[in-house]
Amino acid sequence: MSVLSLPRLAVVFAIGWLYGSVAVQGQAPHKQQGMPQRPPSGIAKVDPIRVSAGSPPVRRATADHSLSLPNWCSAGPYARDDEPLFTAMTRKETSYKIYHNAYWHAHKWYALVPPDAKLGDGHQSGVLHNAACAATSGSGADGSYVNNAGEGDIGGLRSSPLEEGLSVNCALINLPVSNISAFTDNMRAGFLPGTTLLVDFPFPAFPDNLGHWAEIMLTTYSVLADGAWRNNTVGNRGRFVDRILLPNLRKEMNDWFKEILAVAVSPGVRRGGPPVPSIIDHADLEAFPKLSWLAIENLLVVQDRYTHPERKTGFIGADHGDLWRYDGCARYVNRAWEIGFSNPDYAAAFRAAVYKRTGLPPVAGWEPGTPPPALVAGSPRVMTLLLAHEDYPSLVNWEDVQATMHKVGSAAGLVVRTVTLSTDAPFASHLDTFARSSVLVARHGPLLATASLMAPGSTVFELLPYKWEWLGISKLYFNMTRSTGDLHHFAWRPTDYHLAHYDHENYTRYHTWTPEECSARECLMVHGRAGLTVNLTELETLLNAKLPGVLAGKAVEELREPWPKAV
Ligand SMILES: *[C@@H]1O[C@H](CO)[C@@H](O)[C@H](O)[C@H]1NC(C)=O
Ligand SMILES: *[C@@H]1O[C@H](CO)[C@@H](O)[C@H](O)[C@H]1NC(C)=O
Ligand SMILES: *[C@@H]1O[C@H](CO)[C@@H](O)[C@H](O)[C@H]1NC(C)=O
Ligand SMILES: *[C@@H]1O[C@H](CO)[C@@H](O)[C@H](O)[C@H]1NC(C)=O
Ligand SMILES: *[C@@H]1O[C@H](CO)[C@@H](O)[C@H](O)[C@H]1NC(C)=O
Repeated sequence: MSVLSLPRLAVVFAIGWLYGSVAVQGQAPHKQQGMPQRPPSGIAKVDPIRVSAGSPPVRRATADHSLSLPNWCSAGPYARDDEPLFTAMTRKETSYKIYHNAYWHAHKWYALVPPDAKLGDGHQSGVLHNAACAATSGSGADGSYVNNAGEGDIGGLRSSPLEEGLSVNCALINLPVSNISAFTDNMRAGFLPGTTLLVDFPFPAFPDNLGHWAEIMLTTYSVLADGAWRNNTVGNRGRFVDRILLPNLRKEMNDWFKEILAVAVSPGVRRGGPPVPSIIDHADLEAFPKLSWLAIENLLVVQDRYTHPERKTGFIGADHGDLWRYDGCARYVNRAWEIGFSNPDYAAAFRAAVYKRTGLPPVAGWEPGTPPPALVAGSPRVMTLLLAHEDYPSLVNWEDVQATMHKVGSAAGLVVRTVTLSTDAPFASHLDTFARSSVLVARHGPLLATASLMAPGSTVFELLPYKWEWLGISKLYFNMTRSTGDLHHFAWRPTDYHLAHYDHENYTRYHTWTPEECSARECLMVHGRAGLTVNLTELETLLNAKLPGVLAGKAVEELREPWPKAV
């Protein structure tokens, strides 16, 4: 798949000069340098007087502008005449928010706000109670907001303060406008009516990370399936997801991403409409005419772990070097936000939809207390050692791990096999591997993103790299499988640095760092890519301790073990 580095999307420019001129003078933006040049007439609202007057220049300008708009947006406004197109936001739940009349223009996101809502000390909207960085405050955001600004009504909904941290890589610029009708009348605009789902990939620097895609997709599915979001949309046609907006990805994505996205959005689509809504991607946005504005009626944004409502986040610089350099502040992580499905019923429904779409037999139900059924009745149960295609980062003694699995697994009546996969293998290969495995052993890594789709009663044994811990990151896959309620998930983690094989002797210095100290980019990368030797005695002990209970069908919580600490 292709991902771009997007300094322009990420960087927030100060535009104080703009606030001042527009707000104070109440001028339409075309008077300002760098803003759209005024066409003879607006198209945001059709002025009945001018239209009936039939002034030729008006019509020609309107037509010219419409022709330059891409076909994925509409030239006709969605708002009724005289309805001010101020930007508002509703956040009724921590799991999502919806912006109403969000604007994209010249590579940035804008909110048009009344002049009295302009930024100033103590007047910034979207103030979080515990606004400190999660990394230093420890507790993270609790989702409670101070309702002191930006409130109002939109389309019969009580709106919430605008959050400027639109999504992890997108910041919203507040643009105070004193005469909104004059502003939008003179705007060259394209419109996206109904509901547009924004999907901002949190780590564009790691484009093949299926795990980070899964973490946003499972929440997206949960929000759409829950359906309460529909009541927070405005307009006549907001109750379905009409399109997906990918500000930092391309439509031509990795098959795994594509298939998971198709199922994740399925509860939101219009019945009778296309099964997957159309996608507007980074390239489309880049090509959008720079003098025009894109007005979005409802922009649905699902919560992730990385978006701070006051935009205390973002990558700056071509190599996204701030990802860890500022340790937690620039790279905000809300440790209180639970990734995964919000409800085990959604996990089951998602799994069923994925199996159906991929052509696998339906998953059999599992009743704890009875042995979990195999995917195909009567077939032997399989234990899989899953390896990354290039064995990178490597599992140094994988052959010994395989031998240990043969010894323990065969004794337990399992057929043991080894499978290698790459992250860009077809989704069907990933799913097939996991669906047919009752027990799976793998090193922590993106391949485990499919684990939460295993059949009920199945088991993951995850081999964690040495000192791999950063704001709960080692539990990325565990949190997803746990949210299904019907999968076992155990982990083994080395406690001796001799089991970690750094790719350069210089890096051995990191082996003494504590997990708290190891939060900067280099240390994490060094541990993430270090080769891993498994202590076979410990692995065998773990397998022997858990396999009999797992195969007998003991309940997940009954067998659960504490997550091994990074020491
Ligand atoms: C806003 O601008 C329009 C012209 O587009 C004008 O007719 C109207 O009087 C202005 N309203 C205010 C409050 O200045
Ligand atoms: C939406 O609102 C209607 C009317 O208030 C209510 O009956 C319905 O339960 C709501 N739907 C959801 C999914 O919350
Ligand atoms: C997983 O959940 C735990 C809380 O149970 C949390 O501390 C941790 O940060 C979470 N990790 C991820 C990656 O979601
Ligand atoms: C290892 O450290 C030495 C001394 O600091 C330095 O000259 C060398 O470039 C380093 N090598 C790598 C691969 O980091
Ligand atoms: C493996 O683990 C066992 C038990 O914790 C320990 O006694 C042994 O020294 C370890 N072996 C290696 C090679 O680390």
